[in-house]
Amino acid sequence: MQIQQSFNLSHHNTFKVPAVCPQYFEPSTLEELTEAYQTCKGNFYLLGEGSNTLFIDNQAPLIIRPKFMGKSITTIKNAVLLTVSCGENWHELVQYCVENNYYGIENLALIPGSVGAAPVQNIGAYGVELSDVIQSVSWFDFSQQQVIELDNKACEFGYRDSIFKQSLQGKGVIVSVTLKLAKEFQPKLSYKGLNFEQEKLTAKDVMERVITIRESKLPDPNKLPNAGSFFKNPMISKEVYHTLIAKHPDMPAFKVTEQTFKLAAGWLIEHAGLKGYRENGVGVHHNQALVLVNYKHVKGLRIIELATLVMEKVQAKFGILLAPEVRIVDHQGLTSIPEITN
Ligand code: EPU
Repeated sequence: MQIQQSFNLSHHNTFKVPAVCPQYFEPSTLEELTEAYQTCKGNFYLLGEGSNTLFIDNQAPLIIRPKFMGKSITTIKNAVLLTVSCGENWHELVQYCVENNYYGIENLALIPGSVGAAPVQNIGAYGVELSDVIQSVSWFDFSQQQVIELDNKACEFGYRDSIFKQSLQGKGVIVSVTLKLAKEFQPKLSYKGLNFEQEKLTAKDVMERVITIRESKLPDPNKLPNAGSFFKNPMISKEVYHTLIAKHPDMPAFKVTEQTFKLAAGWLIEHAGLKGYRENGVGVHHNQALVLVNYKHVKGLRIIELATLVMEKVQAKFGILLAPEVRIVDHQGLTSIPEITN
């Protein structure tokens, strides 16, 4: 197994913040994973491709980066069950499925990150969530030292949420994900940018349109370091919705249940006056206000200062408290937004 000492993580997080971890493990088998876990004595942060993680201290915790690779396929009636190891790249998997006529994840093209990280936050975009196609997740439980199979229901998926972020946090590792993909293409075109003129639509057409939309709205992390949406879209009650919409009739909102509405955090940030705001090497992106950008590759705390400002302004204007979607990691491990004291 690759074990690196004093490992520089600045190219292993898409915010490109400087951080060094004392030891970096890349296990690719269960034996190596167990060895890494035992060496860390339970004190580590699990990293995928670093596209949803913000390191806020110069020192990071011990890092385990699972690198299990490979795929296998079983054909069942009208569908295939595709099992993919956690170290594979998500977008390459989407391309592979489109090329091989396995349908269901074409709307999730170009999302950065690894396959193993995808169920943790139940990645979603353009009308599809990963939970729509997950059959099961194989999860290595550290305390039992064995792989447990969790079916879709057991994963407790929600909007950008799952059991892996909640009760199973820190207790094991996703080693592979099994997707149930259709053999017949049924396009999901509910997102308003996905309207097509042509009659014979293919999954490749949808994937390419999604790529075009993403490239037009979201900055490429290789050019402008970012982690996609920094905040989750807030869920509010029907009562709060009615009060807000009376004051802001143009505010986009999506009815989730009879009692709950989801707001667009990007709209709230823009209308709090922060779209395009820049200071101290960081800023709010000028096309998509939900994305915070580390323009000058500065340290993670600068991004926390900006996120705090965004949260304060949105709360002052709309009375809504935004919650980060990005995972915030200090020298000890996963944490929440710290209080900034000047
Ligand atoms: N909007 C603004 N100003 C902005 C940004 C957005 O007014 O600066 C408005 C848009 O005009 C639209 C609404 O907000 O009416 C929603 O915007 P958009 O369709 O761009 O999607 P989003 O809600 O901002 C979510 C996901 C994205 C995903 C898109 C498309 C979250 C936190 N983000 O963004 O996911 O790509 O929908 O489905 O749910 C990510 O998680 O990193 C991510 C990029």
